[in-house]
Amino acid sequence: MSTHSHQHDHGHVPSMPLSAPMLALFDKEVAKYPADQKQSAVMACLTIVQRERGYVSIDAEREIALHLGMPVIAVHEVTTFYNMYTQHPVGKYKLNVCTNLPCQLRDGAKALKHLEGKLGITMGGTTPDGVFTLQQSECLGACADSPVMLVNDLTMCSFMSNEKLDQLIDGLRAATDGAGVQNHKEAQP
Ligand code: FES
Repeated sequence: MSTHSHQHDHGHVPSMPLSAPMLALFDKEVAKYPADQKQSAVMACLTIVQRERGYVSIDAEREIALHLGMPVIAVHEVTTFYNMYTQHPVGKYKLNVCTNLPCQLRDGAKALKHLEGKLGITMGGTTPDGVFTLQQSECLGACADSPVMLVNDLTMCSFMSNEKLDQLIDGLRAATDGAGVQNHKEAQP
């Protein structure tokens, strides 16, 4: 543990404070529980942060802890226990490929290898342009549809042959390029 923690956190890059709309969403979750049990909203708050920011930073955990009146370490334990929470910045698209045994027996590992080759990264890595992060996933409950993957914790993709994977990646990349050009245009005076 750092001996400087009460002074400056050397090497720690603070993330942006959580926005007022995000805190308002927290309050909505908190309101679902009796006043003395607002800590029950911790998972919902973590999910909100992850959805908005793509990952849960230490600073975000601190803000959640403050908001829910619980120790930071207790929030951190929840973040690290559940693998749906990401603790580091990830690409715009998080690709979670299931490689549990039933999927492995049905080309799950092959799909992962194909993605690694196509994206030029290995499991856990993010492409240099920040568009894709490749991660391993636990069973997604769709073993019969293998190879399966989850995009951004939300969109399930089944029967992912190499051709379908190529289509998905190319499509997402094209959409990103398009958005980039548009944002750039909007930024022009
Ligand atoms: S093992 Fe992959 S979805 Fe079940």
